[in-house]
Amino acid sequence: WQKRPISVWRYRELLPVAGEPVTLQEGGTPLYHLKRIGDELGIKELYAKHEGMNPSGSFKDRGMTVGVSMALQLGMKSVACASTGNTSASLAVYGAKAGIPVIVLLPSGKVALGKVAQALMHGAKVISINGNFDRALEMVRDLCETKGIYLLNSVNPYRLEGQKTIGFEAIDQLNGEVPDRMVLPVGNAGNISAVYKGLIELSELGFIDKMPMMTGIQAEGSQPVVRAIKENLPEVIPEGSPETVATAIRIGAPVNAEKVLHAIRMSKGTADYVTDAEILAMQRDLAQKEGIGVEPASAASVAGVKKLVEAGVIDHDERIVCVVTGHLLKDPETVIKQCAPPIECGATLESLLSALQL
Ligand code: F0G
Repeated sequence: WQKRPISVWRYRELLPVAGEPVTLQEGGTPLYHLKRIGDELGIKELYAKHEGMNPSGSFKDRGMTVGVSMALQLGMKSVACASTGNTSASLAVYGAKAGIPVIVLLPSGKVALGKVAQALMHGAKVISINGNFDRALEMVRDLCETKGIYLLNSVNPYRLEGQKTIGFEAIDQLNGEVPDRMVLPVGNAGNISAVYKGLIELSELGFIDKMPMMTGIQAEGSQPVVRAIKENLPEVIPEGSPETVATAIRIGAPVNAEKVLHAIRMSKGTADYVTDAEILAMQRDLAQKEGIGVEPASAASVAGVKKLVEAGVIDHDERIVCVVTGHLLKDPETVIKQCAPPIECGATLESLLSALQL
């Protein structure tokens, strides 16, 4: 297996699919050293695993290559999900590749433009629900149960099997070194739970001898997991009206609540929230100081590191891997709102020099 390129299917012995998977070469995403941001924070080994570099532009593709392959293996005739956007884009892509019909339920008006565009163009039946993501998920669960459609939200264990490979790749890219900490944005809490599960498997197989501290970051207006960790609650109490600019993680009732509490507590990690302003500021820093373009939810992980370093929770000598989960172009509207518009200019050199103030 060491001869296979770094990708989800490099680790196929640890994945459930028998036979040839439905694949678009997902995984194998870059692990970037955040030199400038790391210097500013006084952390030498700060890395970002850029999951926006997957085929549909988010980490969801790792789950969908496995989930859709399993749907075919189980003889399912159609697949569905509810989504804050990325899951729907990814399912539309892999449904197209597999040649099976896809239904996606989206919270009306709360999904970033690029994600809706992908779901539509790849041929999914796109339903816009007059309710939030949590309600859309309840509805799609009922639909799937009633009509025998295969549900591909992160309640589906095969999704998480694919997503666990993020941790495998990060360790491979660090030449076998285990990070001290892995930091992920948390919405439905599938991804952080998946990465933890994968690392436990590596440890049980004897490949690694320590676990990273799993650290979950949520948005201030949508932080049920953070509350449960900070107040040491036995379970996550759902929030009724989550709100954040990071629409990908605008989730009040995470379905993987029990798993995320287990992952964070067992690994001696932590959880914290960041404000929308901190998220957008870090999105800009990643773009302008590191050349890494991510959507707002993704920037939450690195913004969380900044907050936790400044609070003295994270030590300066830690080796930290932040998972940045989706591409900048997923949410162009939020970008355009933040940036000054292009400078209008006439079609002469004189106008250009004046526009550039040269
Ligand atoms: N980052 C991005 C860009 C996401 O799209 C999501 C989740 C997360 C982080 C959080 O991951 O849910 O596993 O804790 N997006 C889902 C969706 C909910 O429907 O696309 P999680």
